[in-house]
Amino acid sequence: MTNATLIATIGPAGAGKTTWRRRHAPADAVVVSLDETRAALSPCGCSSDQAVNAAAVEAATATTREVLAAGGTVVWDTTAYLPRFRAHLLDLADEAGARTIGLVVLPPLLTALVRNAGRDATECPHCGYARRVPDPVVWRMRHAITTALPRLPGEGWHVLRFLDLPPYLRTR
Ligand SMILES: Nc1ncnc2c1ncn2[C@@H]1O[C@H](COP(=O)(O)OP(=O)(O)O)[C@@H](O)[C@H]1O
Ligand SMILES: [Mg+2]
Ligand SMILES: [Zn+2]
Repeated sequence: MTNATLIATIGPAGAGKTTWRRRHAPADAVVVSLDETRAALSPCGCSSDQAVNAAAVEAATATTREVLAAGGTVVWDTTAYLPRFRAHLLDLADEAGARTIGLVVLPPLLTALVRNAGRDATECPHCGYARRVPDPVVWRMRHAITTALPRLPGEGWHVLRFLDLPPYLRTR
């Protein structure tokens, strides 16, 4: 029996995923943040630099394998809005016999848009990306997650938690 646990946020840009894990990730967990890994790998230091995204996913995947194999907890700070990306995370956990917790961070669309709008829209002269993502991207990510909600329980998560639900749904 292993205590290995994989916790992954599922939520659009601006949802509050990073804020959640800073406040609530277990103290002994290893946090895997694609934003922070991209920033570390990007020649211009940009967290949004998509040119290093594949390398960041690879590095984060290797870290996840190591931590889970050792029986630890990994917290993925990620949008996970694509089914194939969630499948990748669930496969990694499955390999290690780890428990999986999906944390759906889904505030109202306008909340995510307003939070995203608070970010710097200046495009980096080197990689061409800004910290703020275009509004339609937030919209599309949120749409993808919302339409996937009915299927999430069937994806194989041991536990699914829903943050930011309106109070009238939270009590159910
Ligand atoms: N529960 C909350 N209440 C108020 N503001 C929040 C909350 N969660 C996040 N924010 C603010 O929204 C912005 C985006 O949050 P962040 O956690 O970086 O989003 P994400 O990581 O999902 O893109 C930040 O400025 C943060 O301070
Ligand atoms: Mg974040
Ligand atoms: Zn850059």
